[in-house]
Amino acid sequence: MGSQSVEQPEPQQTWSQRFESALHPAIAQFNASIGFDIQLLECDLDGSVAHAKMLAKVGILSEAEREQIVSGLETIRGEYRRGEFNPGIDEEDVHFAVEHRLIELVGDGGKKLHTARSRNDQVGTDLRLYLRGQIEQIREQIRAFQQTIFNLASQHVETLIPGYTHLQRAQPLSLAHHLLAYFEMAQRDWERLGDVLKRVNISPLGCGALAGTTFPIDRAYSAKLLGFEEIYHNSLDGVSDRDFAIEFASAASIIMVHLSRLSEEIILWASEEFRFVTLGDTCSTGSSIMPQKKNPDVPELVRGKTGRTFGHLQGLLVMMKGLPLAYNKDLQEDKEAIFDTVATVSGCLQAMTILLEEGITFRTNRLNQAVAEDFSNATDVADYLAAKGVPFREAYGLVGKVVKTSLAAGKLLKDLSLEEWQALHPKFEADIYDAIAPAQVVSARNSAGGTGFKQVRAALERAQSLLLKP
Ligand code: ARG
Repeated sequence: MGSQSVEQPEPQQTWSQRFESALHPAIAQFNASIGFDIQLLECDLDGSVAHAKMLAKVGILSEAEREQIVSGLETIRGEYRRGEFNPGIDEEDVHFAVEHRLIELVGDGGKKLHTARSRNDQVGTDLRLYLRGQIEQIREQIRAFQQTIFNLASQHVETLIPGYTHLQRAQPLSLAHHLLAYFEMAQRDWERLGDVLKRVNISPLGCGALAGTTFPIDRAYSAKLLGFEEIYHNSLDGVSDRDFAIEFASAASIIMVHLSRLSEEIILWASEEFRFVTLGDTCSTGSSIMPQKKNPDVPELVRGKTGRTFGHLQGLLVMMKGLPLAYNKDLQEDKEAIFDTVATVSGCLQAMTILLEEGITFRTNRLNQAVAEDFSNATDVADYLAAKGVPFREAYGLVGKVVKTSLAAGKLLKDLSLEEWQALHPKFEADIYDAIAPAQVVSARNSAGGTGFKQVRAALERAQSLLLKP
């Protein structure tokens, strides 16, 4: 007698008696989602509690049965939170794991919980509850990120920074204006997620496997218990819709686009070529070989992680596109995509918020000096003439000429004498020097949404009032 003599427990009989043999072990492994959908456990318990209460309300369960089931489910919650509930691969998924443990805990009463329900509407319910909670948290993280941008911007209204198009110096900006561009993007992200939430917060519970159920259930009641705004009005759609997951992945991808663009700018700004910011020690790393280096790992990782969120969006779209109604096992693939998207977006928002809060210092002297040493005031010379009646296109041509001769002479526009200006065009007067000073160049762009200091102060006020909105 060898190890064979060790008694193995009878494998749990999940399927109806139609099945004669258990799954091949490798197929069981392949089929199982318990390794990742355990994350849905508390949502599964919430959904089951609501379902049990609904069954009791319509008289399918007695009050005693409902009490027994609900207290069994809460026991499982306690076990899970204490780290004592660790279902293995033989459970297939979180829904079976809970059901089996419930039956172990409360006996035959537990076998009634699955009346008028299928794992198809169950998993849809769980995923929506999960996503609802996560979206609420991500929206709070966006608010914290916006608050940090707001704080930084408030300190830098009058700090100037070169503005670029095509990564060529274009026109100088208030640094606050540049930072607030990201505040506005984040505002749209926050609103977009709020919109996604409307379509996440719909109950599929009670759609059954696909066609509804023969029992006199009250779907509106279980939906209300779970805080859903509405119920799916078509059972086939209810069990097989993952639009809400795709919408979330899309909104998350857009958030990542914004974080990645900011990351790219910070990486450039921290380089020796730009020298616009210095990175703090708590948010950067060194090189194992080059002692002089300080690397912008945080923004690089954010930029790098952006790709996986796009990948998940693509994966979900392709997963859905060929599915006949209603549930297909392909849908099990939604979970890892969603879980990883949540973890990535949330981790990146947190890291970028910390980076902006304590890991980055703008070199204001260097920035203010940078804008004084280029030709980014050239448009203002053209505007100066245009304001004095010279047609803009003509002024533009003249200024192009003076930029060319100044470049050749190694001069900046501010270095030209009044005679030189007047030789170019008699409309130039001594006030040209004020008109092309960087602070004046910025200040003058006072059109709505522009970088003029007045506009930037108004933008800060707008930002503050947005932050106060729930
Ligand atoms: N683990 C499954 C999933 O994630 C649960 C639903 C299973 N339903 C079924 N009919 N096999 O999608």
